[in-house]
Amino acid sequence: MCGIVGYTGFQDAYDIVINGLRRLEYRGYDSAGIVLEGSNNKLEVEKTKGKVDDLVNISKELKGTAKIGMGHTRWATHGVPSDRNSHPHLSNNGKIAIVHNGIIENYDTIKKMLSEKGFTFQSETDTEVLVNLIQYFMDLNPEIDFPTAVRYALNEVYGAYAITVLHEDYPGILVVGRLGSPLAIGIGDKEYFIASDASPFVEFTKEAIYLEEGHMATISLENGVDIRTITENSKIQPEIQQLKLNLEQIEKGGYEHFMLKEIFEQPKSVHDTMRGRLLVDEGIIKMAGIWDHLERFKNANRIIIIACGTSWHAGLIGEYLIEEYARIPVEVEYASEFRYRNPIITDKDVVIAISQSGETADTMAALKLAKEKGAFIYGICNVVDSSIARITDAGSYTHAGPEIGVASTKAFTAQLTILTLIAFKLGKHNGNLGNADFMSLIAELDAIPKRIEEVLNTTHEQIKEIAKDFVETTNFLYLGRGYNYPAALEGALKLKEISYIHAEGYPAAEMKHGPIALIDENMPIVIIAPKRGHYDKIVSNVQEIKARKGKIIAVVNKGDRQVSEMADYVIEIPETSECFSPIVASVPLQLLAYYIAVYRGANVDQPRNLAKSVTVE
Ligand code: M6R
Repeated sequence: MCGIVGYTGFQDAYDIVINGLRRLEYRGYDSAGIVLEGSNNKLEVEKTKGKVDDLVNISKELKGTAKIGMGHTRWATHGVPSDRNSHPHLSNNGKIAIVHNGIIENYDTIKKMLSEKGFTFQSETDTEVLVNLIQYFMDLNPEIDFPTAVRYALNEVYGAYAITVLHEDYPGILVVGRLGSPLAIGIGDKEYFIASDASPFVEFTKEAIYLEEGHMATISLENGVDIRTITENSKIQPEIQQLKLNLEQIEKGGYEHFMLKEIFEQPKSVHDTMRGRLLVDEGIIKMAGIWDHLERFKNANRIIIIACGTSWHAGLIGEYLIEEYARIPVEVEYASEFRYRNPIITDKDVVIAISQSGETADTMAALKLAKEKGAFIYGICNVVDSSIARITDAGSYTHAGPEIGVASTKAFTAQLTILTLIAFKLGKHNGNLGNADFMSLIAELDAIPKRIEEVLNTTHEQIKEIAKDFVETTNFLYLGRGYNYPAALEGALKLKEISYIHAEGYPAAEMKHGPIALIDENMPIVIIAPKRGHYDKIVSNVQEIKARKGKIIAVVNKGDRQVSEMADYVIEIPETSECFSPIVASVPLQLLAYYIAVYRGANVDQPRNLAKSVTVE
């Protein structure tokens, strides 16, 4: 949700900022802007509604003019996407520039106060209020320096922010701060980088500091990185981390879109999720996070899974898995609802938070509440060292590698893999899963990457063709039962996110309680109907659809007859135990959504109105 890039060093700041913004464009793409500190220290700003390419069109003359600067790519919160609302924002005196990711919740009160003092505002943003608050403190206390004024201002605001600020009278200095939104500082040789994640600087340095919550830093070539707490101004010793990210992981590698690349990466990403954890020959699942807290899980009154979007769908499948194999009661909650409905949480509860980005504000807020009430918090995140990963008591990374396409694919199947491991591990430990079943299930799980590969090889070309028939379609239904009901929800979400076709997921049996009214010859229905999973009941559901002339796209196991005979399109996947079928069945649904969106000319990696990490509540 908004991407920030900053740079000071010996290279051309324009190139670093623009290339960095391209890598962060997945975070928001409503508008883009850049500010550079030129040779006369004057701040040169260019910004525009639209994407980084639009920014390049209007800012080329800035190339080669500066060695320090910063930029922004925006996902609009306050104010429509427009040139005026684009970042960077300047203070009234034109000397201070800011880029901001997050929301200043009390901006209105501050804006009123500043307006009374004579400040004027060009935009509708909360960010412009903050930059003027910095100027206000400098005007009020001429003896304080620029970083101190930023600190004073940050102490007055609440909400979420990652900011980078430049001041014309303080050349060579970048001031950054963080509360609730991520910010990384790359440490190069005689150069420093700032970014919302490490991707903009990974080819220049492998050393980074992830700014902690409530910290700010003053960065200059002369004095390096000086980190302080925002409230107390106490000096902090930075912890420099070695980045594991490499360039190849964040490039498209010959695929047309990141989403397609990420769909095809799933045999590897699922394997990576299990690597070192699933030791089939020894018959063990080794997960440090769970291992160290097995008794906490075993004695839990219940497990509450909280998440949003695709991660919430993974959570629903987690509920089926954990209840079936570990027999521990599980509730799955939308993080945004959980937080605001005064939930009953006790210190006997275990809360599992699932988040690809580890930055989702709704999930973060729900977690904080559960923590306050004494629950044990377990995180399942993909992004290492993300905010959620940091505040949990224990957790497991999914290790799916960077997911750049806004529509989640490989992170979802990696989340399912972790949840499967947890369910089997807990079931084995508390005696609900006998040794023979455990051994056979883990052997099957170990082979799931091969099953995914098989699905990719056998269905890809076929789905490309099927998708052509649905380019003009306006509505879709997705149905599944048991484990595949959440898979149906996820299939529908993928389609609507990237193709803008209205799609709904339902438990197949629920169809007769309402959605069946929608079915006619124009309604395509994707039905997930594997052999093992209430097959007979699904056959009846398919008959009901057929009787109403719905167009059936069936995802079935190889060799299926009953459903296939009734279906208009048949996509075959290998047969697995029911608990693994959502992983395997999700792959063709991802491909279907992808190709329909591509044929409709949609921007698959950057769907309208969405952003990869949603850091506002
Ligand atoms: O990073 P998170 O997993 O916490 O994100 C949660 C949702 O915002 C996310 O899954 C969203 O629904 C995706 N766009 C799904 O493709």
